[in-house]
Amino acid sequence: MMKYFIGNWKMFGTPKSLSILNKVNYFISRDKNKKKYKVIITPPFTLIQTFVDHFKNKKISIGAQNSYQKEKFSSDTGAISPFMIRSVGAKYTLIGHSDNRKEGDTDKILKDKVKFASKNNLKIIFCIGENKFQKNKKKTFSVLKKQLMNVLEKKLIDNIIIAYEPIWSIGTGKIPSKNELTKSTIFIKSIVKKMLKKKTPIVLYGGSVDENSVNLFKQIKEIDGFLIGGASKSSKKFIDIIKNYYT
Ligand code: 13P
Repeated sequence: MMKYFIGNWKMFGTPKSLSILNKVNYFISRDKNKKKYKVIITPPFTLIQTFVDHFKNKKISIGAQNSYQKEKFSSDTGAISPFMIRSVGAKYTLIGHSDNRKEGDTDKILKDKVKFASKNNLKIIFCIGENKFQKNKKKTFSVLKKQLMNVLEKKLIDNIIIAYEPIWSIGTGKIPSKNELTKSTIFIKSIVKKMLKKKTPIVLYGGSVDENSVNLFKQIKEIDGFLIGGASKSSKKFIDIIKNYYT
């Protein structure tokens, strides 16, 4: 099974940051395991075009961090549509990151974001995850189920990857236990399988993934890859995550 290493840069990077990805690209091009995985980076909108042009025919694919809930052009100041993202050559977009849910993205908005992104042939990395309060109340599964049921539609079958990111784990160094994470991943896969009639749903994990924690995560075979925040801004850390995954 193909694995995914996705680096979400969030609000980080200038054109000079290309040097980070050049090192990552050089590593991949010489890695004996390179056929087993895909590397995708989601830089801020300001860098998408530069990175897409630079990494054309190379080992790194580029995606957006968000995509607006309308199709093409409109009078929404500051918004970027899936059509615009696609027009600069990005192939992926994150949708539903907890940073954006926190700022007001409801399930209804997310459903539109997913619909228009898919219509514009973007592959969607749809982020879900429970917060600490919900986890403590043992509501994790019901929260995840709702987040999936309220947004996914059958016709997305080929266009969607799920990223499970427990909010309490993002940027905190706290990670789920192996048992907890195995169970949640299997649970998410079973829901997506049923809803999309998809044989092998792709489910990634995100939340404090680094060169050390990956040694635990790699033991969970159900996980198809990682959505990496902080550690993806360092070429060394990002490369070490891939190296450690395969050793
Ligand atoms: P960290 O890897 O910094 O915890 O961030 C995870 C994340 O939010 C990726 O989208």
